[in-house]
Amino acid sequence: MRIAIGSDHAGYHLKVCIKEYLEGSSITVGDFGANGPAEPFDYPDAANEVGLKVARSDFDMGILVCGTGIGMAIAANKISGIRAALAYDEETGRLARQHNNANILTLGGRKTDCQTAIRIVKEWLSADFEASRHLSRIEKIRKMERSGHACDPLHDQPRLVTFDHPLIQHKVGIIRDKHTSVKVFRELVQEIAGLMVYEATRSLPLEAVKVETPLTTTTAYSLSGKKMAIVPILRAGLGMVDGILQLIPNAKVGHIGLYRDPETLEPVEYYCKLPGDIGERDIIIVDPMLATGGSAVAAIDLVKRRGGRKISLLSLIAAPEGVSKVHEKYPEVDIFTAALDSHLNDHGYIVPGLGDAGDRLFGTR
Ligand code: RB5
Repeated sequence: MRIAIGSDHAGYHLKVCIKEYLEGSSITVGDFGANGPAEPFDYPDAANEVGLKVARSDFDMGILVCGTGIGMAIAANKISGIRAALAYDEETGRLARQHNNANILTLGGRKTDCQTAIRIVKEWLSADFEASRHLSRIEKIRKMERSGHACDPLHDQPRLVTFDHPLIQHKVGIIRDKHTSVKVFRELVQEIAGLMVYEATRSLPLEAVKVETPLTTTTAYSLSGKKMAIVPILRAGLGMVDGILQLIPNAKVGHIGLYRDPETLEPVEYYCKLPGDIGERDIIIVDPMLATGGSAVAAIDLVKRRGGRKISLLSLIAAPEGVSKVHEKYPEVDIFTAALDSHLNDHGYIVPGLGDAGDRLFGTR
């Protein structure tokens, strides 16, 4: 059993006492601060550290202590996958596990003495989640997390994000223009993709890091090691990759090649090379046009079959038909687009659209 433990300054003494008890019980403890009671150490920083360690399974469970235990619970519960419960006696400690499957216990250093805290910890650690009727309730919490609208269950909807930023709209106007040259078209597609990726990466988790400025030591933030993969659908998707890599230079790039079977009109895979650890990465599938949605769904199918889990789709221009097709099968895939156009014509082209993005990128008309 590995337990991550953390406190703020107000919870420091109780944390030390709990840590001694855990280590005396042959439990592996990771201590993520505070380092003393005197210096202010903000509880959200400790909650973030410990919460991420538990959410990523670096540790099995976590214990967080602040003055009341309340701030730690509020902060840790912001992390997806964390169920942090404040307990103030043995019964609440046990129920936090039996009913709520709490993976983090929070305690109040100014409210609970050391012996009581140890009894609470013992109850919490030795109890088992009862599942049965409580399982569906935990599932509902997980669903709230996945929806991204935890405060409003009515909004458990597939997510389509369209960008109304003037810079993006201005550039989209230029690439729609049939007189725009291949060179300018190519440059603008990269630029728009780069701008869009800001929004697509908004929910990447951060972790607190200590940084020495020329003046003092402070807490700053760094991406918490979440790895990314960009997966262009060949060939037009290639036109967006460099723009994204300028912002996320460490992302790995996979490639998916699909063609349309002339008889069945279904997309057929002819190439697929993805990063070996695709299951651990946040994946952005990129294709400038989301038209019928056939290629996008086939690409998501492929990535999922190879173990991909957290997938979003980035398209410069989307048709409602394509958005519906993707979300019918994969409501959990967020779609980011710079423009949601009117419809598809009889040939499957987006109207008003911009023509064939591949031909316009590579000058192959
Ligand atoms: C710090 O003084 C105190 O506010 C904090 O430890 C905690 O009780 C917050 O919930």
